Amino acid sequence: MTLLVTGGAGYIGSHTVLELLAAGQDVLALDNLSNSSRESLRRVAALTGREPGFIQGDVRDRTLLDRIFTDTAIDGVVHFAGLKAVGESVSEPLRYFDNNVTGSITLCEAMAAAGVRRLVFSSSATVYGDPAAMPIDENCPTGTPTNPYGRSKLMVEQVLQDLGRSDPRWSIALLRYFNPVGAHASGRIGEDPHGVPNNLLPYITQVAVGRLKQLSVFGGDYPTPDGTGIRDYIHIVDLAQGHLAALDYLRQHTGVRIWNLGTGTGYSVLDMIRAFEVASGRAIPYVITGRRAGDIAECWADAGKARRELGWQAHRGLTQMMADAWRWQSENPDGYATGDTPQN
Ligand code: NAD
Ligand code: WQD
Repeated sequence: MTLLVTGGAGYIGSHTVLELLAAGQDVLALDNLSNSSRESLRRVAALTGREPGFIQGDVRDRTLLDRIFTDTAIDGVVHFAGLKAVGESVSEPLRYFDNNVTGSITLCEAMAAAGVRRLVFSSSATVYGDPAAMPIDENCPTGTPTNPYGRSKLMVEQVLQDLGRSDPRWSIALLRYFNPVGAHASGRIGEDPHGVPNNLLPYITQVAVGRLKQLSVFGGDYPTPDGTGIRDYIHIVDLAQGHLAALDYLRQHTGVRIWNLGTGTGYSVLDMIRAFEVASGRAIPYVITGRRAGDIAECWADAGKARRELGWQAHRGLTQMMADAWRWQSENPDGYATGDTPQN
């Protein structure tokens, strides 16, 4: 049987496809390459010695989805496909709701028609809004996301909850990611955002290789020990492995389940800069500017539920996150455009 991985060429998708292939799972990746390149999965194939199937196409294309479910024996779907740039979602809300919400609904309709009811969905800690207390566990009520991207994630969660209630045969995992960073230890795959990065670590690594001049630290007056924002950064390989643990669970349980995927530890922006400087040996010039609209002061997970129920926890610490991020960026200063794997 084969797993369909939507958005499989992207940052989290490619690392998860690698772990799935390494575990012996057959994978078919579907991606429209709107924010990724075909090269990521070529490198995954080279690293694992196993070729994932690949279809360039859109998750909103129902005809294509029906053909995939007819042609291939799919027994579950890991759904990464979506748009994720918070600022862009404010200026282009319809594109975000169409890709993220309509895309998810179209996928579920096609799954239901094909009788495939096992689904892992990429949600986000952003659905908690601005919680009153840390750490955040899964019983913390969802809050008010501050932007259309966050609202699209919350909407899909609600759609999937209703879907699960409507038909008890569904097995659905809502995985609420905290802040994925780093890269595979090989340095061959990693995060390759199009345009200027929105997220902290790719911004830092691009400053380090000279693609960007200096980092703006968004806010130095938060009520945190050093005044900068605190987040729960999780190594991308740990995060990818969390999907395998969730899939194992879904093979034995029906219903809709929610798990935080985080480490349980928070680091400030200045902690991140210092740790990166140590790992890379490069100084990161930065300036403290005003707060970014919509940012919260702090956010870290209670990671206990995933540990108890999935037997999964993050193992890789900050030093490894930074070393792996730096290996990827320094060996691929222009991301996947640096050098393509020869095709046979
Ligand atoms: P990414 O942009 O690297 O990967 C998303 C992939 O989906 C890309 O390859 C893109 O080309 C593809 N895609 C987008 N719209 C599509 C469509 N309509 N049809 C087919 N393919 C489409 O992003 P990522 O960081 O790997 O994120 C994966 C998922 O995880 C997203 O749903 C994102 O919202 C969610 N998420 C990411 C983070 C994060 O910080 N990276 C945090 C929480 C949740
Ligand atoms: C981390 C910290 C910034 C950039 C966002 C989305 C969330 C999620 C992950 C995506 C914050 C600070 C950042 C910079 C900075 N999902 N920062 N200078 O904001 O926690 O989460 O990405 O799918 O939904 O909101 O992550 O990496 O942008 O920021 O000072 O140039 O770094 O203020 O404190 P965030 P981030």
